[in-house]
Amino acid sequence: MLKLGLIGHPVGHSMSPWIHHALMAQQGLEGSYELFDLAPEAFEESIEELLKQPMDGFNVTVPYKEKIIPHLDHLDSSAVALGAVNTVKRTDEGWVGFNTDGTGFVHSLSNRYPEVIQPGTRILLLGSGGAARGIYFALLNSEVEQVDIANRTVARAEAIINENKTEVRSRAFDLESAERHLAEYDVVIQTTTVGMSPNDGQTIISLTQLQEGTIVSDIVYRPMETTFLTEAKAKGAKLHFGHEMLLQQAVYAFQIWTDTNPDASALMDTFERKLK
Ligand code: ATR
Repeated sequence: MLKLGLIGHPVGHSMSPWIHHALMAQQGLEGSYELFDLAPEAFEESIEELLKQPMDGFNVTVPYKEKIIPHLDHLDSSAVALGAVNTVKRTDEGWVGFNTDGTGFVHSLSNRYPEVIQPGTRILLLGSGGAARGIYFALLNSEVEQVDIANRTVARAEAIINENKTEVRSRAFDLESAERHLAEYDVVIQTTTVGMSPNDGQTIISLTQLQEGTIVSDIVYRPMETTFLTEAKAKGAKLHFGHEMLLQQAVYAFQIWTDTNPDASALMDTFERKLK
C-alpha cells in the first residue's frame, strides 16, 4: 500500500489527489494520497511529526517549498539548483528532496511542440517568482539560445539571471519593454498568478506586438484558458496550457516514488473534463 500526500497551506483545492489516484489506478497500484494542511505557526512540529509517519513520499506546495529543506536528509540536484523542493521520497538513506516543477514544465512544452528545444530558440519568461525560477533553470539545461526574463520588479529578474552559469544568453527587463519586444521571441511563458481565478480577465502584458505562430504558454490552470491565452490565440499563437505542466510534474513525482513509467497523455482527456 503506497502512502502519499501533499503538504501546504492551503491545500483544499489541489488536483493532486485526483491525479495520483488516477496514476495508481493506471499502474495497478493500491494506496492513498492525503492532503495535509499545515498551519504556518506550527510548521516545525507538524513536519517532524509527519516525517515519523509510515509514508512513502509526499509533495510540497506553497508556502513550504523552501522551509522543508532543513528537515530533509539529502537533496537531488534538481532541488539544489532551485533551492526549493516539491517532491519528497523516503529512501534507505533517509528523506530525499526533488523538484519536478521546471522539468515538468519543459517536458510538457516540448512534448507538444518538439521544435521549441533547439539551438536558436529565443524564449521570454514573464515573472520572477518561484515558478519562473524553476522553469528558467530547467530551460537553461535544454538546447535553447536565449532565455530573457521580464518582471514588474526588474531587480528580481536580474537576481535570477545572475545565477546563470551556462552559455545560454539572458537579459532582464521590465514589462513595458517586454510588450515592445514581443516579436523577437519564439516562445512567451507567463509564470505569475496574474489572471488566475477569481481574477479572470487580468493579463500581465498587452500582446499587440505578438507575431502569428509564436508559442504562448500560461502556467495558470484555473481558468483552463486564461484571457492571456485567448488573446494570444486571436493573434494566431500556438497555445500551451498550465494544466499540461501540472499533470507532467505530478507524473514525474509519481515516477520518483514508484519507479513506474506512467502515461500522462492517457489521463489528459479525463483531467481536462475534471478541471472544466
Ligand atoms: P511565487 O514564488 O509563488 O511564484 P511570488 O514570489 O510572489 O510568488 O512571485 C509572483 C510573481 O508574480 C512575481 O514575478 C510578481 O512580480 P514582482 O516580482 O514585481 O512582485 C508577479 N506579479 C504578481 N502580481 C502581479 C501584477 N499584478 N502585475 C505584474 N506582476 C505581478
